[in-house]
Amino acid sequence: MSELNSIALKILSDGKGILAADESTATMTKRLDSVKIPSTPENRLNFRETLFSSSSMAECIGGVILYDETIKQQSSKGKTIPELIISSKSIPGIKVDTGAKQLAGSTEEKITEGLDGLRERLKEYYKLGARFTKWRGVYNISRDYPSKLSIYSNAHALARYAAIVQEINMVPIVEPEVLMSGDHSAEDCYNKTSEVIEKCFEELILHKIDLRGVILKPNMILAGTDSKNKIEGEDVAKLTVKCLKKSVPSEVPGIAFLSGGQTEIESTENLNLINKYNDTKFIMSYSYGRALQQSALKKWSKNIKDIDSTQKVFNHRAKMNTLAAQGKWSRDLEN
Ligand code: G3H
Repeated sequence: MSELNSIALKILSDGKGILAADESTATMTKRLDSVKIPSTPENRLNFRETLFSSSSMAECIGGVILYDETIKQQSSKGKTIPELIISSKSIPGIKVDTGAKQLAGSTEEKITEGLDGLRERLKEYYKLGARFTKWRGVYNISRDYPSKLSIYSNAHALARYAAIVQEINMVPIVEPEVLMSGDHSAEDCYNKTSEVIEKCFEELILHKIDLRGVILKPNMILAGTDSKNKIEGEDVAKLTVKCLKKSVPSEVPGIAFLSGGQTEIESTENLNLINKYNDTKFIMSYSYGRALQQSALKKWSKNIKDIDSTQKVFNHRAKMNTLAAQGKWSRDLEN
């Protein structure tokens, strides 16, 4: 087993998933504004440290994706944040793209940037303890989108990123996110997501990526948020598994879904059903941001000194998702 393959498997083993705590300062400020807490470096650290020191970290969270600010911060107990994560036998990771910018040639679409200087930044993150990375490509969906240009250029950037990451001995999370917004049908989402993922793997193979050392982070197959023909539960699961089965090469060890704006319960329920229908060899787990943090953030904002209450809420969500990643969740466990 290669070193990269064993890191990927360790992150996603036994129902473990990934805590995506890599919101940029701008996004984290929006999240904190929504609960009326000032977005200072101290408050951002305080909330994140509360999650990273929770008891569920050891049992449920195989990896944490950090943002540049956080990976360089010190915890209140004097450890660095990566050291705090490692003390729970979890693995620190880092978001390394610098965001989605307007795609020249297609004004309605975006291309993710961050390749310049990436090798040097990765060497620094490796020294700080990171062993995996994340890069998110983002795709609008409608009658005309995503365009061939957006599908090709984001896949190319994802592959160039993944090649440099593996050169530094880290596992790249490849995240092509087809957004939920729009009135598209689930069938459209299925077709476009398949095309996007297939193009990503075509480019990853061209760039000689070791697929056994990659984690794919896709969206689930859902109808758009404004669609009149929503699908739920079993249909989401069946279409999602069908899409991944046909689009992802069998060497890839694991798939960790993003939550993408689904509610906490929807994200858990859909993941659970996906695992019930999963007849592939891929591990199918979670790499959730909002769906792991939303309730914990609300609780924390009531009293930021009450660490226990926030951790209790976070531990519950982490546990529910880890059960779902094994197909062992049921709604009555939520109470
Ligand atoms: O890149 C997206 C995040 O890592 C996942 O966030 O679960 O809130 O969609 P989300």
